[in-house]
Amino acid sequence: MEKNNTEKMIHDISNYPKTIRIKFQQLFGQEALIIRSPGRINLIGEHTDYNMGFVLPAAINKAIYLGIHLRKDRKISLYSIDYQDDYQTDLDAINRSGKLWPDYILGVVKQIQKNHSLDHGFNIVFGGDIPPGAGLSSSAALECATAYALNSVFNLNLENMALVCLAQAAENEFVGVKCGIMDQFASMFGKKNQLIRLDCRSLEYAYVPFHTENLKIVLFDTRVKHSLASSAYNERREQCEAGVKLIQAVHPEVLSLRDASEEMLLEFVKPVSEIVYNRCNFIVGEIKRLLNSCTDLENKNMQAFGKRMFETHAGLKDLYEVSCQELDLLVDLVKNDPNVIGARMMGGGFGGCTINLVKTEAVDALIKKIGDTYLAKTGTEMLAYVVEIEDGTGIV
Ligand code: GLA
Repeated sequence: MEKNNTEKMIHDISNYPKTIRIKFQQLFGQEALIIRSPGRINLIGEHTDYNMGFVLPAAINKAIYLGIHLRKDRKISLYSIDYQDDYQTDLDAINRSGKLWPDYILGVVKQIQKNHSLDHGFNIVFGGDIPPGAGLSSSAALECATAYALNSVFNLNLENMALVCLAQAAENEFVGVKCGIMDQFASMFGKKNQLIRLDCRSLEYAYVPFHTENLKIVLFDTRVKHSLASSAYNERREQCEAGVKLIQAVHPEVLSLRDASEEMLLEFVKPVSEIVYNRCNFIVGEIKRLLNSCTDLENKNMQAFGKRMFETHAGLKDLYEVSCQELDLLVDLVKNDPNVIGARMMGGGFGGCTINLVKTEAVDALIKKIGDTYLAKTGTEMLAYVVEIEDGTGIV
């Protein structure tokens, strides 16, 4: 009886903190400190973060909730509500768990231990409503929640930017995905109804108001599970670095694709490798596109902004080659719909969601129409999320 009630609550976002409190009491007889850390969307600027360009993400109303309390001994005890699974280890013996979800937490602990000796173990219970593998950065949210939680209970006094860097390093070094900084940054620094224009080189950022009174942000989930850990993401990164190297031989001042021009790519990269050229060409174009799209936002020209989203999709599909049939189908289906201002695949690629800017009054009918067609063409039921832009990581 009690289990059924708990399970029901798990699927109601407003009750996650309560579910965690109850589970924490059951497992450890303790009162947990609860942290909320959201997933993210990205309006434009894809794969530009690790090329030292700009991104335009925001935190959303889907989040990881994580409860924490210190222990007297040096044990670490973790429990995932959604996987109904636990994991135990010791502060002095942190290794990869072999089942992924604990690694996002353990990787952060290991990063913190580089500069701080933690003198107590701790208990963690977490869960949340960010669909995993949908490209909404549930893993970054878990890393940020952990970093924020440890900073709080151990009084480490680390700035939020330091926590973001720790969380990214955990993913790079412990989980093994050479991701950029966007996901962790957006999860930590999100602000209600604001996009964040982040310069991934200087880490300077500015909040950009996003006027969506008559537009909704709708995500269509292909349900194709992407695996960033699969080599394709790291391979794209290597191809970009290979392009930079070719240019650097003549222009040592070019440190990343942020500094490269279309002319440089044509002169030094295209003759050596068409594939590397295509990858780099997309990135150089995308960095420019993002800057122009920020001007569109300033001018409140959402039609122009949306057009650039479609252009981004075309580049991710044809030049960067990180899309897939299902993502392309979802973008094609809305391309000529006057109620859809812009659409494109979002995040690392190879599955996950498309992001669509849709006229508010048309949202319900569109979800039904696209869902039906998607089911008929792929045999898979599409999921749709109408998301709101929310605050970043904090204590509940
Ligand atoms: C993933 C990575 C990010 C970023 C995007 C693509 O979400 O974690 O760092 O590179 O892909 O823009």
